[in-house]
Amino acid sequence: MNSLCRNVSLTRNVHTGRALFKETPRNLKGKKHSSQLWLARQLRDPYVEKAKQERYRCRSAFKLLEINEKFKILSPGLTVVDCGAAPGSWTQVATNLTNADGKKEGSIGKVYAIDKLPFYPVEGATVLGNMDFTNAKTHETLSKMLQGDKVDVILSDMAPNASGVRDIDHDNIMLLAYAALRFALQISKTQSTFLVKIWDGGKTQQFEQNLAKFYNKIRIFRPDATRDESTETFFLAMGFKGLKTS
Ligand SMILES: C[S@@+](CC[C@H](N)C(=O)[O-])C[C@H]1O[C@@H](n2cnc3c(N)ncnc32)[C@H](O)[C@@H]1O
Repeated sequence: MNSLCRNVSLTRNVHTGRALFKETPRNLKGKKHSSQLWLARQLRDPYVEKAKQERYRCRSAFKLLEINEKFKILSPGLTVVDCGAAPGSWTQVATNLTNADGKKEGSIGKVYAIDKLPFYPVEGATVLGNMDFTNAKTHETLSKMLQGDKVDVILSDMAPNASGVRDIDHDNIMLLAYAALRFALQISKTQSTFLVKIWDGGKTQQFEQNLAKFYNKIRIFRPDATRDESTETFFLAMGFKGLKTS
């Protein structure tokens, strides 16, 4: 399971954030050292507690909330694709802020949430589990669902299982970031937004340069909710220039 979202568990093979709502085990005896460290960190983490209180499936919700607070990328009526969405906390945030769940007055947005793992539905979102985003078939399925509509915001919090070897993990997450970017270029409206997570490394600068070819404004952001020891960084690309079709 992805280490960044290990506060979620796989219950009957479905990716869920329910572990957040369970009692935390008090007796760590007999657990592997890495599990003990992880549990101890969870207990100290204020975002884990906050996620529990606000009923988010995962602490990652606060990263997107913070990015949105600063850059205002999500608003009612927008169409959003959320890549690497399980267990669904970004999807919860996106459906609420775009009003895809129709709970507020005004424009109603659409949220498509994709992950290679299965995960529980999020009210108001179209949840597509068991879909590998690096597979062309996933792009085809999504394009069909969009029925020619273009997307306002593409989010990618996709992350591979971390090996612990920094260069390998960096290379693997960059493959996911490029898969999300390629898809974003095909299905986005002009002036749309692309938000993508990477783990910093040798290919970061080239990625930024590539983003700048297609988007007017690039911001690099590390939310407060990102753990200190993580190399995680978010690239926010705004103002898609569109693709020349001639
Ligand atoms: C950090 S978690 C996402 C957390 C999510 N944003 C949330 O707030 O609940 C990263 C996710 O990326 C997914 N992922 C990794 N590789 C993928 C791929 N090739 N296609 C689709 N999803 C992928 C993982 O299964 C994992 O659920």
